[in-house]
Amino acid sequence: MDLNELPAAPARGEVGQAGAAPRAARKVFIKTYGCQMNVYDSQRMADALAESGYVPSETPDDADLVLLNTCHIREKAAEKVYSELGRIRRLKTERQRAGKEMLVGVAGCVAQAEGQEIVRRSPVVDLVIGPQTYHRLPDVVARARGGARVVETEYAIEDKFEHLPQPRPDRVAGRGVTAFLTVQEGCDKFCTFCVVPYTRGSDVSRPVAQIVAEAARLAEGGVRELTLLGQNVNAWHGEGPDGSEWGLGRLLFRLAEIPGLARLRYTTSHPRDMDDALIAAHRDLPALMPYLHLPVQAGSDRVLKAMNRRHTAADYLRLIDRIRATRADIAMSGDFIVGFPGETEADFAATMEIVRRVNYAQAFSFKYSPRPGTPGADLPDQVPEPVKDERLQRLQRLLQEQQRAFAVALVGRTIDLLVEKPGREAGQVVGRSPWLQPVIVDEKAGRIGDIVPVRIMSAGTHSLFAEPAPPATDQARGGARRDD
Ligand code: 5AD
Ligand code: SF4
Repeated sequence: MDLNELPAAPARGEVGQAGAAPRAARKVFIKTYGCQMNVYDSQRMADALAESGYVPSETPDDADLVLLNTCHIREKAAEKVYSELGRIRRLKTERQRAGKEMLVGVAGCVAQAEGQEIVRRSPVVDLVIGPQTYHRLPDVVARARGGARVVETEYAIEDKFEHLPQPRPDRVAGRGVTAFLTVQEGCDKFCTFCVVPYTRGSDVSRPVAQIVAEAARLAEGGVRELTLLGQNVNAWHGEGPDGSEWGLGRLLFRLAEIPGLARLRYTTSHPRDMDDALIAAHRDLPALMPYLHLPVQAGSDRVLKAMNRRHTAADYLRLIDRIRATRADIAMSGDFIVGFPGETEADFAATMEIVRRVNYAQAFSFKYSPRPGTPGADLPDQVPEPVKDERLQRLQRLLQEQQRAFAVALVGRTIDLLVEKPGREAGQVVGRSPWLQPVIVDEKAGRIGDIVPVRIMSAGTHSLFAEPAPPATDQARGGARRDD
């Protein structure tokens, strides 16, 4: 799957606050693993459960329902879930001794991949629910409360998004000024390393009206920056109100009209689905941030072919040239896999070369991890672990140098900052640059939700440090719109 783990999104996190809850409400603790889509799904599950009286809990200790929203993308994800379930088993026993309830559920991609096996191996589990059936969660929980052990992993015929409750602006209000919105889910590309087509199903786009309604509710709840999500987000397509076929570029223009929404992003894209309209949106739509996550995975054509990416390194470089010709200050981000079966030193050198050519502002790199059921797992010439380790180190060194250089180049410039939350130290606030970097600044710079000019004074390892600034006159503002 191409959805990466941005630092913006807590890789693990509990769900946000609920609105007014009935007294003696039951509590749910949701632990989220993996990508932003899981973060979004956890939120929607919390919304669905809120309708049946569950309020979020900060800890599993006092929860009547513990849900693990799991990820299956790499490594021994399933094993991690089983060991977490071991810890939860002790908690559940303690709670039961005290005469209290604790239902335990496994959701997400491990749930989809393992299904019944989870209930068989782990007696502590009361319910298993796959990503396509979250709208049935309240019913599944009710059945589990009645004593059944429920496994719900059949792909639903009905559209889950139509049945999940819309986020309520009063609940959204406690969750911050940035939000995710899944517009597309699943994938038909079948890259040979990737488990997503099997866990998330085939490529489905949500309808325009549904997306616009959800975005409007989020904006009403105070959201200023919206990140559209999809495993193949730029494959999104839908019928517009005029009856014509819309692509993602068109959708972004429509969303930018919603009052309050000042910044738009989307992730993750496949190079083959970057169409002209979407590229043009990066030039013509000020709300669209100049940051693009466009994974290439590898730089060798031989490996790209074996991965079934269906483009060459030259295709990718040409595409980046076109994008940069449209929007010169766009920051590129990517994903890389080292040690795909059969990868030679020369193949790996081609990956290093493509990284040098593109010059990434941000990137995520991984050792190849054979996923059961994917074609890659059965290929001969699996690369030994120490070789993967060594290649990953070299690649990450180069990527870190590029990321650092990108951050340092901003020092002395004035940029637009979306103020997101109080900083760790009193008197400070933290926000995001147009290029997704965390920026720390004195709270005098602006209130949460404001977009304000700040001058970058220095670049730390993970954050930029800034001072409040008069409105910028240079070109470094990243297209962020001052509209407040
Ligand atoms: N092994 C290693 N990395 C993987 N990814 C997806 N599947 C695998 C795998 N089997 C990486 C890809 C993808 C990112 C989200 O995770 O780089 O873009
Ligand atoms: Fe996985 Fe490839 Fe689909 Fe991305 S495009 S989700 S890597 S199969």
